[in-house]
Amino acid sequence: MCIPGRGGGVMGCLPLPLLLLVVDLALALGPAAGSGYGPDADMDTLQDTEDQDALLSQDLIRAMGLTGRLPDVSKVNISQEEWTRGHEQYLASVAAQQASELDALDAHPDRRKLYTFHSAGHHADARGRHRGPRSPRRPVRTFLRMDLPADSVLDDAEVRVLVQQPGTVRVFEVWRGGRRLLAEHEATWPGWKRLEVLEAAQRAAARGAPLLLELRCAPGVRCEGAAANAIAEPGAHARARRAARSDCGRDGTKCCRQALQVDLRQIPGMEFILQPGSFDAGVCRGRCPPRYHPANHHSLIQGLLRRREQREARQHDGQGQAQHGDKRAPRVPRPCCAPARLEPLEILRVDENDPTKLKRAPMSAMRVVSCSCA
Ligand SMILES: *[C@@H]1O[C@H](CO)[C@@H](O)[C@H](O)[C@H]1NC(C)=O
Repeated sequence: MCIPGRGGGVMGCLPLPLLLLVVDLALALGPAAGSGYGPDADMDTLQDTEDQDALLSQDLIRAMGLTGRLPDVSKVNISQEEWTRGHEQYLASVAAQQASELDALDAHPDRRKLYTFHSAGHHADARGRHRGPRSPRRPVRTFLRMDLPADSVLDDAEVRVLVQQPGTVRVFEVWRGGRRLLAEHEATWPGWKRLEVLEAAQRAAARGAPLLLELRCAPGVRCEGAAANAIAEPGAHARARRAARSDCGRDGTKCCRQALQVDLRQIPGMEFILQPGSFDAGVCRGRCPPRYHPANHHSLIQGLLRRREQREARQHDGQGQAQHGDKRAPRVPRPCCAPARLEPLEILRVDENDPTKLKRAPMSAMRVVSCSCA
């Protein structure tokens, strides 16, 4: 599928589910952030946003092998142990997948690692006197220290805790003489809760300092097994990996693969997907001049016919026979910059049959690896 661009040229080709995803993101982020996929890019598909959102979700969910029911997000109860097991398996399978993809993009493999920090202990009041976890008046406080290698690039950072009674849990960033609320969760049923601390953890890692966290459970609410988790990659490595994602070279106007970051966390209905939070789907974009990266023999003959047609049209114009408003659309379109190779995306999600379990599944043809003129 080709999208006509603002200038009348062809902007790129994407498989339909991915296209809807991109259009959806462009809408969510506004025209400026959509970089070319703004409202005038494809009016037909934008007419009914809610319909399109529903279609998008259905397509993607089918692509994940989910046909019947979806995981019920309100019942998700993933223990720390299950979280670690699931993520370890996920990262191992991403690494195995990359080892089998032999091309330039993979010269910088994914080196994300899991980090887990357990609590140092409970304190029932400000003076540090331990009153036991059932102290009725004061909130129970748990301290966690997140100490990541300096210059880590973080993908995820969260506190997980088993809350035994309904009540509020809060997590604060603390420093000598100060604290700041980072996240809050109103637990309505006992189970494992997650509180996101990604932004604060990113800032701490950029400073090369540990992040000190204080978890507060409402008075009378028993909290257990608190841990802070992060997925991080050495900064230099993450940057090299990002830079390698485009094969456009200096002349970025001809058909090539550009990076296209997709944030699954921002798409409503995708809350049951834990990994990846965001990924580079890639996008094919650029002009397809004659004989440039032809996908096959067909694109060569199409290019040839197109040139002949253009030459004839020019001769026609030169003879002064063209009239105003008599510009016919070319019969042969120019070859379109389209994915030549697509690879699957590894997904870690909640098991639709068991809200306490995580499940890994590849989603086929979700990442563009190379482009050609088709
Ligand atoms: C969630 O799981 C924990 C054990 O991991 C269990 O103690 C708790 O009761 C579960 N919650 C529900 C509502 O099933």
